[in-house]
Amino acid sequence: MSVKKNESNEKIDPQKSQTANDQGPYEFKEHDSKSDVVWHQASVSTEMRAKLLGQTPRCIWFTGLSGSGKSTVANALDNELYKLGVKSFLLDGDNVRHGLNKDLGMSENDRIENIRRIGEVAKLMVDSGLIVLSAFISPYQRDRQIVRSMFAYNEFIEVYLSTPLAACEQRDPKGLYKKARKGVIKHFTGISDPYEAPKNAEIVLDTSKFSIDQCVSTILETEPFTECEYSKPAK
Ligand code: ADX
Repeated sequence: MSVKKNESNEKIDPQKSQTANDQGPYEFKEHDSKSDVVWHQASVSTEMRAKLLGQTPRCIWFTGLSGSGKSTVANALDNELYKLGVKSFLLDGDNVRHGLNKDLGMSENDRIENIRRIGEVAKLMVDSGLIVLSAFISPYQRDRQIVRSMFAYNEFIEVYLSTPLAACEQRDPKGLYKKARKGVIKHFTGISDPYEAPKNAEIVLDTSKFSIDQCVSTILETEPFTECEYSKPAK
């Protein structure tokens, strides 16, 4: 288990940072009315909402292989926060893929769009004053960095579930690894599709070594969820 402060909040402009290999998914879609859409300044700021709720809005972004414990730890944390009276909400990959993102599959482009949408939703929810927990494989470093860069410093906490592939595969709670090994499921993360492990996650947890309770305690000890010391840094 490890905990650290991530100093790298490097801003990424997805459009400007394209390389020769990048195509499609990072391009902004042009449309006729783009220049006619103007940002409307809200009267109630995130700081005001944070004070009203008495908490520090944050996005706790869980990433890791399927079966690594993302949903389990995030759920357990959500439950503890509820008991503490903290207003939180869990966005879970499998569930969101039944609704908002039910049009998306597991191709690289669809995963990129999956994470982009979740990042935007998480941002809106954090701006509303909530503690947002998100549990998505989010396999690509670049996409996680793009989401991170949408948030102010300290608003985005990356929690890497570093549980080894062998342990995830042994658990295989949904029988998906078995199907992936047989080639029934294509593009399965860790088997036939890549997972780019975070290099600078704030918190690293291995659920094959530590209990769910220990993992939840580590996160609770690290993050000042109930302190309302919110002040939004200038972007
Ligand atoms: S992500 O890669 O786009 O972040 P997400 O977290 O939303 O993935 O969804 C992953 C869940 O979909 C897994 O927990 C698993 O239950 C299911 N799943 C179905 N097919 C695949 C696949 N090819 N690779 C990984 N997970 C899959």
